[in-house]
Formats: sequence, C-alpha cells, structure tokens
Amino acid sequence: MATSQQKHWPRLDVLEAIRLRRSIRRYSDLPVEWDKIGTVVDAGRVAPSAGNIQSWRFIVVESHPKRKALAEACLRQYWMEEAPVHILIVMLLKKVREFYGKRADFYAVQESAMAAQNMLLAAQVVGLGSCFVSAFDDEKVSEIFSLPADVRPMGIVTLGYPNESPEEPLKYRIENVTFIDRWGQQNIGRIRDVDAVIWNFRVVERGIQIGNDFVKAVDLHTRDGRRKIVEKLKEKTSAIRERLEGKKRKQQP
Ligand SMILES: Cc1cc2nc3c(=O)[nH]c(=O)nc-3n(C[C@H](O)[C@H](O)[C@H](O)COP(=O)(O)O)c2cc1C
Repeated sequence: MATSQQKHWPRLDVLEAIRLRRSIRRYSDLPVEWDKIGTVVDAGRVAPSAGNIQSWRFIVVESHPKRKALAEACLRQYWMEEAPVHILIVMLLKKVREFYGKRADFYAVQESAMAAQNMLLAAQVVGLGSCFVSAFDDEKVSEIFSLPADVRPMGIVTLGYPNESPEEPLKYRIENVTFIDRWGQQNIGRIRDVDAVIWNFRVVERGIQIGNDFVKAVDLHTRDGRRKIVEKLKEKTSAIRERLEGKKRKQQP
C-alpha cells in the first residue's frame, strides 16, 4: 500500500529543487515506484551532450546482491546498500572518441555529469532522496556488470525515500566564487546577495550549535577537558565573528 510519503510530494520549480537538494545517505525501506524511477532516468536522457551524441547509458539496479556488490566496489560505502535503487551511469568512450579525438574523454565525463545532475534534481522533484557517488574501483564496477572494455563507469546515483534531512552543508558565498570580467578577487563586494548575507550569520549560528552539541557529547569526560574545549570554541567563535565583521566593514560602500 502506498504511503503518504510515496503518493504526495510538493511540486517544486527547478530553482527550489536546486536549493532543496541534499546528498542523502540514509533511506527508508519503502520501495520506489517505477514511474518515479522512469521520471528520474528520463531526466538524464534529455541532458545536453556534445553534438547531441548522448554518450551515456544508464543501468538501473534494484537487485540487492548487485547493490551490495556496488557498495563494496565504492570503497565499502555500505550506506549505499540501504538505497533501494542505484542508477549506474556509464560512458560509451569508443563512440565519443570516434567523434572528438583528444577532447573525447573530457566531453564524455561532462555529458554523463550533466545527466547525473538532471537525475538528482528530478529525484528531488518527485520526492526522492539521492546521492551522487563516484568514489569507486572502476574495474570492480565494470566486473559486476560485465561492461565491455570501451564502456567506463562514470558515477552512481542512489535513489530512495529519504530517512534523514541533512542540513545544508556550508557553501562558499557567491562573491567568493564569482569574478566579473577577469580572474581574481578584486570584484568582491560587487555582487550583493541577500541570501549570502543571511548565510553569513547562519555560519555563526551553526558554529554555536555544533559547539553546544560537542560540549554535550564530552560531558562525561573530565572537567579539565571540558574547560579546554569551551575555551577553544570561544576562540573559534570570536575569530569567525571578527572575520565576518571585517568583511562587512569592507563591503560597506
Ligand atoms: C564528483 C562527485 C563525487 C562524489 N562522490 C561521493 C561519494 O563517493 N560518496 C558520497 O557519499 N558522496 C559523494 N558525493 C557527494 C558529495 O559528498 C556532496 O555533493 C557534497 O558533500 C555536498 O553536499 P550536498 O550534495 O548535500 O550539497 C560526490 C559528489 C560529486 C560531485
């Protein structure tokens, strides 16, 4: 019987899906409906590709022994076993090389990565959790699926109903990763983004929260150890505050 988690999901536009997507590594044991798996794979199928050669293929893996073997091949990332579906993305290297010579392998990875990102976003839209995984032993993955020599695994998308809601990991602010018209930091401050400003304060908030959790966790240890940790946390918090205030001052016109 379908649960409410399976049936209903909030309809998201693409920007919301981009913002809300998190890498999910804990899954419930609810099976994933095939129409949703199809929707996700289809999102990969329509991704851009160099000259539209579509150099990827997708292997949907439901079999538990194969998922277990994949988790092993992914440098023992056993959490993957919990995900009821894996989608293995492979690159048809021979095909791309025929068209693009030296640039081929570069394009092949880019194409498959675009397909992967489409899948992650589609998963988010249909209410599924996902994670992109590419820390693996190529040979072992190829062996599991008896891949021909010119077909190379690029990555795995794990899929399933999430059993965790991770917080947004810290990301750089837009002005720290974007330059205008030239390379370099000289443009800092030209891009002003309300979200980024709010994010700044969230760093401090999160620092304090992590600190509190940490102090709780060491509560069983010696008083001396605790005192040192509190001192360290105070130092770190004031360093972050000073840095932020410095930046804020710099940004003021
Ligand atoms: C190229 C690449 C390889 C990754 N490989 C793994 C992996 O092997 N295992 C894993 O748990 N996560 C993997 N991830 C997911 C990242 O850890 C994750 O995207 C990052 O921590 C940021 O978290 P977010 O996706 O929730 O924003 C990979 C992501 C990328 C882009």
